Amino acid sequence: MDFTHVEGDLAKTLITEDELHAKLEELARQIEDDYEGLDLLLVGVLRGAVMVMADLSRTLNRHIEMDWMAVSSYGSGTVSSGVVRILKDLDSDLTGRNVLIVEDIIDSGLTLSWLKANLESRGAASVEICTMLRKPDALKVQVDVKYCGFDIPNEFVIGYGLDYAEQYRNLRGIAVLAPHVYN
Ligand code: XMP
Ligand code: MG
Repeated sequence: MDFTHVEGDLAKTLITEDELHAKLEELARQIEDDYEGLDLLLVGVLRGAVMVMADLSRTLNRHIEMDWMAVSSYGSGTVSSGVVRILKDLDSDLTGRNVLIVEDIIDSGLTLSWLKANLESRGAASVEICTMLRKPDALKVQVDVKYCGFDIPNEFVIGYGLDYAEQYRNLRGIAVLAPHVYN
């Protein structure tokens, strides 16, 4: 990984910055094709999706709008509670809009399946999901994901927006946190 000050906290690097950026180029070309001639509202889920949103939006060669939501399903721990609360709602009216939810990670899928249904109920023309990471072995509910960067093992990961207790979000790649940090 890139930051020597956290080396002892990381079990291993999972995805490098270069691999993340190469994947975003791929996803952006698909999104450009799929939404050709249509409006596109990117909805980022705070705070984890900040890096994905910043990089994906700048990789897209087309007009987009951006809005943000904050939801809570976790607290500061590492296990999903399944309880979703809106901490900050969108500013945009979704009526007739093509919405693409931009997420850092789908773990149990509980947050995203709830969020997708919630946004669909607001009269959007379409609601799709783009996530950088997904943990197939952790899924508890089925979620239709149109764009997925990487399927990863069922381990707690940090970096590129993902935190443990609000730390490590600024790592440029994605790493597995060493168990001694949270045990
Ligand atoms: P669910 O389980 O609802 O969770 O799909 C989605 C949200 O949980 C957080 N999450 C993680 N955060 N490392 C993190 O830093 C992880 O390995 C991890 N797994 C889930 C994340 O906030 C995501 O939006
Ligand atoms: Mg998060």
